[in-house]
Amino acid sequence: TQQWRGVVEEYRDLLDIPTGTPAVTLREGGTPLVHSEWLSGLTGAEVHLKVEGDNPTGSFKDRGMTAAISVAVHEGAKAVVCASTGNTSASMAAYAAKAGLKPLVLVPEGKIAAGKMAQAILHGAQVIMVRGNFDDCLAMARGLSQAYPVALVNSVNPVRLEGQKSAAFEVVDMLGDAPDYHLLPVGNAGNISAYWLGYTQYAELGEATKRPVMRGFQAEGASPLVTGEPFPDPETKATAIRIGNPASWHLAEKAAKESEGRFAAVSDDQILAAQRELASHDGVFVEPASAAGVAGLLQELARGESYRGSTVVITVTGHGLKDTATALEAFSAGGAGIVDTVVDAEVDAAAAAAG
Ligand code: F0G
Repeated sequence: TQQWRGVVEEYRDLLDIPTGTPAVTLREGGTPLVHSEWLSGLTGAEVHLKVEGDNPTGSFKDRGMTAAISVAVHEGAKAVVCASTGNTSASMAAYAAKAGLKPLVLVPEGKIAAGKMAQAILHGAQVIMVRGNFDDCLAMARGLSQAYPVALVNSVNPVRLEGQKSAAFEVVDMLGDAPDYHLLPVGNAGNISAYWLGYTQYAELGEATKRPVMRGFQAEGASPLVTGEPFPDPETKATAIRIGNPASWHLAEKAAKESEGRFAAVSDDQILAAQRELASHDGVFVEPASAAGVAGLLQELARGESYRGSTVVITVTGHGLKDTATALEAFSAGGAGIVDTVVDAEVDAAAAAAG
């Protein structure tokens, strides 16, 4: 049997990358669409989770990165650079390692989850911590790529979106048509833009009869697409989406407008509660930022919005193991306390403790 070939080979004819570009792949994509009994029950809709934490480095970034690194190698790059809140750097470092490129990473000091930092370091990246936020890091990465022979692989590189749009193809391939609604977290706004490209392309090709309404959710403390103004000092516990001035702002607004969708903000408490509920109801453990779409759906229900009878896809963007510290902090702050009963190594002792 043939295994899944990865995003570039599975969808090569649909991606705008130079003909004959050899694929640098870790067999990313092909992620599961998991039916959520919990959210379907709450909404009266069929709600599916696109579980992007199942990608090789644990986030959706691998879809864009296989494309960006493949093209960078094809074009003769020897080094690559990105700014990141953690997942892009983890992904870039892995694909750069696979391709034999030198990876340079710029991250906001003290704001990167431990799992992501470990990935970048172990894959051999040079990690530079910046006294500033993601937006500052992105400006520096752009500057470095202009002044030095190092290829920029942030989503301002259009090849990234070409790879990332494959997630929309997969959703349609699995459901047989586009869903009615697609909800997802939004930070730098590349992913929502890429989904819209993918859904639009599939509709034009006749692979889908419609395009979904796109609803993007940002953290309250970093919600420029909701307020319409950049946030000079973005702040949220969902560090992956701690971004004040999204690079794909206009493309994301276009996606919302053309789909008759919108952006909304959710609080950190809503995000962390959604993370816990998703883990305990559906068995899907995602990182805090990744729960923003689920938090968004719950908020809309609370506000009286109806999804009854529709098909809904929510992208959960990254794996819960990326940031266990925030998850456990929020869990104990939630009042339950962390259950870590210690007993002697005897059956009776365990039975007594378990009640
Ligand atoms: N969810 C996760 C887990 C992310 O890492 C990101 C972005 C997003 C959502 C938002 O996606 O930026 O396309 O709107 N992370 C980037 C990074 C910024 O550097 O890893 P977006």
